[in-house]
Amino acid sequence: MPIAKIAPSMLSSDFASLAAEAHRMIKNGADWLHMDVMDGHFVPNITIGAPVIQSLRKHTNVFLDCHLMVSNPEKWVDDFAKAGASLYCFHIEATNEPEALIEQIKKAGMKVGVAVKPKTPIETVFPLVDKIDMCLVMTVEPGFGGQKFMPDCMPKVQSLRENFPKLDIEVDGGLSLDTIDTAAQAGANVIVAGTSVFKAESPKDVISTLREKVESVQSKS
Ligand code: DX5
Ligand code: ZN
Repeated sequence: MPIAKIAPSMLSSDFASLAAEAHRMIKNGADWLHMDVMDGHFVPNITIGAPVIQSLRKHTNVFLDCHLMVSNPEKWVDDFAKAGASLYCFHIEATNEPEALIEQIKKAGMKVGVAVKPKTPIETVFPLVDKIDMCLVMTVEPGFGGQKFMPDCMPKVQSLRENFPKLDIEVDGGLSLDTIDTAAQAGANVIVAGTSVFKAESPKDVISTLREKVESVQSKS
């Protein structure tokens, strides 16, 4: 399984101090920053778009893992590439032409992720795996931070890991010190964590423990 990466979700940060919050997370050991983009249509919430990514990019070189919870993901590829996004992760439920979209993202110079909502069968991404860099298995219904982790999504992670040992598999939603073991054992190696990191007394300790838990599963496999 690929190396562990911990990606704090900036949705839980103070958006009014985004650059400072990003630097704080990087200083505390974050590998990636997870950027939740919502359009009020694919999900019932509105967050940030490419202009915010562009502003943040001026302050850091960190890997920006952009999670597009939007309808018509085709529409924003170029804007996000220009803004400095590192990875463009679209929802499989939001497009009828995933292969063309994957090509478009690659051409624009970004890494490609495909996300699946809790009720979407994981087999829908199997034919795409050799063309993508990461698969995001949602462990809550997308739309809001601070929701409860859904352990019933773990068989999807397991099946993905069994079939694709080298794939980056990201889990997103409700990840914390209480749920990391379940996710790591299922085979996830990219861990998104919003509430559990930002609300912690020591984000540094939470980030390092999340990483250790993934690495301990890796050392046994
Ligand atoms: C939910 C977002 C998540 C969210 C995670 O739609 O995709 O990235 O910010 O937040 P927590 O870790 O608080 O569940
Ligand atoms: Zn997310």
